[in-house]
Amino acid sequence: HVKRAISLVHEDVASRYFGCGLAVPFDQLEGLKVVDLGCGSGRDCYAIAQLVGENGEVIGVDMTKEQLDIARKYEEYHRVKFGFKESNVRFVEGYIEDLSFIADSSVDIAISNCVVNLCENKEAVFKEVFRILKTGGEFYWSDIYSDREVPLDIQQNEVLWGEGMGGAMFWEYFHQLTESIGFEISRIITAFPVVMKHPELKDLIGDVKYVSVLYRMFKLGNDIKKIPCAVTYKGTIKDNHEMLKFDRNSTFATDDTTQVDGVTAATLRSTRFSPHFEFSNTSVVQDQPVSSH
Ligand SMILES: C[S@@+](CC[C@H](N)C(=O)[O-])C[C@H]1O[C@@H](n2cnc3c(N)ncnc32)[C@H](O)[C@@H]1O
Repeated sequence: HVKRAISLVHEDVASRYFGCGLAVPFDQLEGLKVVDLGCGSGRDCYAIAQLVGENGEVIGVDMTKEQLDIARKYEEYHRVKFGFKESNVRFVEGYIEDLSFIADSSVDIAISNCVVNLCENKEAVFKEVFRILKTGGEFYWSDIYSDREVPLDIQQNEVLWGEGMGGAMFWEYFHQLTESIGFEISRIITAFPVVMKHPELKDLIGDVKYVSVLYRMFKLGNDIKKIPCAVTYKGTIKDNHEMLKFDRNSTFATDDTTQVDGVTAATLRSTRFSPHFEFSNTSVVQDQPVSSH
């Protein structure tokens, strides 16, 4: 359903897409409020606008007026295309380091597609995302990471900065930073190596390795207990009736009961996923891999 939603976005908008992953959650989004950080010309905003429906709301934020001009030009086109009485999308020009026009704890999901690497002050971005998210809310975003601190000569190369390699975050620093702000551990959904083909730039990059990762991480309440338990997915999420792929390591088959760790249990219990699971404190003995020896 995500691919179908993307296919309905106007060509002029879709052709100006510069993301590095599919930063559109696959589960039930109806009625939710979503903010797209660095929305560009708005492809992901218009895809999500269909998934949240008329009772939901999408706010696209970007610092580049030219991109927003394209996004805004097609607002009426998409309203008609989606059969909505009123448009559920609006675009705001601004820096994602300062989202003061969005109230505290008012957003269900923040998304972002290949933007945080371009921000000088990443800490400010994560703090703002944490502030605007409701308890139980989620940051679901795609970006480029490095396997070490990016050397200064790479950071200062304009082309590499534009390619997302100059400002890529060292993944270890990223984990420390987001956890210190209060996010739960980040969960990888997909990860792909990023390879530089241009010979000169390849030399400049040297041994630094890059990976494009789609992450999800949640803001849970301080008083949430993280107790391992058994969970059973009910198969009730739209377009995910056979199974729910929660992250790269966790796929929940419908009606199967699985033991999960305390953080996963707390996350499923206290977010929009809660009504779609049954929780039981009885532990489940997992099938052990059969050894041939
Ligand atoms: C690689 S493009 C991605 C655009 C869009 N997410 C997409 O997938 O097509 C990066 C976008 O981030 C915006 N951007 C970069 N730094 C920003 C910042 N600090 N605040 C707001 N927007 C920013 C740029 O204007 C640009 O539109």
